[in-house]
Amino acid sequence: MSFILAPSILNSDFVNLSHEIEMLNSSEADWIHLDIMDGIFVPNITIGQPIVSAIHAIANKPLDVHLMIINPYRFIEDFSKAGAYMLTVHYEACTHLHRTVEQIKSNGMKAGIALNPHTPVNVLEELITEVDLVLNMTVNPGFGGQKFIEASYDKIKRLKELILSKNSKALIEVDGGIDLTHSKRLLESGVDVIVAGTAIFKSKSPAETIKKFKEIY
Ligand code: DX5
Ligand code: ZN
Repeated sequence: MSFILAPSILNSDFVNLSHEIEMLNSSEADWIHLDIMDGIFVPNITIGQPIVSAIHAIANKPLDVHLMIINPYRFIEDFSKAGAYMLTVHYEACTHLHRTVEQIKSNGMKAGIALNPHTPVNVLEELITEVDLVLNMTVNPGFGGQKFIEASYDKIKRLKELILSKNSKALIEVDGGIDLTHSKRLLESGVDVIVAGTAIFKSKSPAETIKKFKEIY
């Protein structure tokens, strides 16, 4: 079974960002996961559209952009121009989520919805056929390097059931605290896309660790 591996650059070496992207370009990574935080929806601030655009100019893999910002509809066009392939917004950060999803798609991007660990999967019942991806947070968003929440395995199974019951084509992505010890069970639970940050970028050889992730299945 093949799956998509999306390394998160949040804990990479930002001083040498171009080298990190070049490493990902020549690695077996499938997508590049970029975490955008506003200091309001989550207690941390990271990068914005100019950096996404700069990465897009040198990356040869699709950019998987995870917005952890309130009212993300304000920036949909900006992230489209910056080169996002997948644009994921948080369920908890959108009042008019249906409209936001439509706007993402009409701006030429794939649309994803992220769920915090406390948000049940059934809130997506009316939208699951409209989205390309559901990102299930396996830590509370805001920082890399946190501990994986074990209850996520059961939640992913429920999400998979919902997707199948509605004949949805949505991919399931998991993000937060994932290392090589979790990935097999996650994939067996129905996951399609694995995000990993610390496990890759804090390892001795990130390219080698990416290879090990891809060898699992
Ligand atoms: C957390 C971010 C994650 C994070 C993953 O809010 O959404 O993408 O960078 O990093 P690790 O794998 O270190 O948890
Ligand atoms: Zn993320």
